[in-house]
Amino acid sequence: MSKLFIRFLFVVMAAVMIVTACGTASVSPTAYVNPATQAKPTLIPETDVPTAEVPATDAPLPTEPAAAPGAISFSADILPILESRCVNCHGGNKTEKRLDLKSYESLMNGSEKGPVLVAGDAANSSLATLISNGKMPRRGPKLTPEQIELIIAWINAGALNN
Ligand code: HEC
Repeated sequence: MSKLFIRFLFVVMAAVMIVTACGTASVSPTAYVNPATQAKPTLIPETDVPTAEVPATDAPLPTEPAAAPGAISFSADILPILESRCVNCHGGNKTEKRLDLKSYESLMNGSEKGPVLVAGDAANSSLATLISNGKMPRRGPKLTPEQIELIIAWINAGALNN
């Protein structure tokens, strides 16, 4: 092997080492993105989750009559709540589950599944359960705690048509 060739080899190896070193160095640390810390694209759009606005739920419904029978009036106290929050879907534009809340008689007729309330027993009345756990009204503003208490008290007081 000639000295010239060995020298040539040496130069080539040196060049290769320099190129390799530069190649490594050229990967700048900022270009590397740790996948764990990388911001992830939001695949599911934020939706209007109703659970946050649902009032306290799992407490057992009061069973004692909170009001003397007749103290709460269906026509003056209860029907206006149903008309403002429920009839749109139950007796107005729609009649979901064939439950019509426009009048005392149609309310007491219940839904396609049967009665939605048991007079004197709110705890066994689906209407009371569904408003106190926030499932009804299905959309729109929830009933206020006072409205829920009023309906429950009216049912526990015998659900009179007064
Ligand atoms: C935006 C429409 C909508 C509004 C407003 C609404 N509901 Fe409903 N309601 C529904 C739908 C839909 C169902 C059937 C739900 C299901 O079966 O999961 C239902 C079911 C019910 C049921 C159960 C009927 C059964 O026997 O299956 C009751 C009781 C009820 N609603 C009461 C009410 C009351 C009381 C209000 C007002 C405070 C109200 N709803 C407001 C849409 C609505």
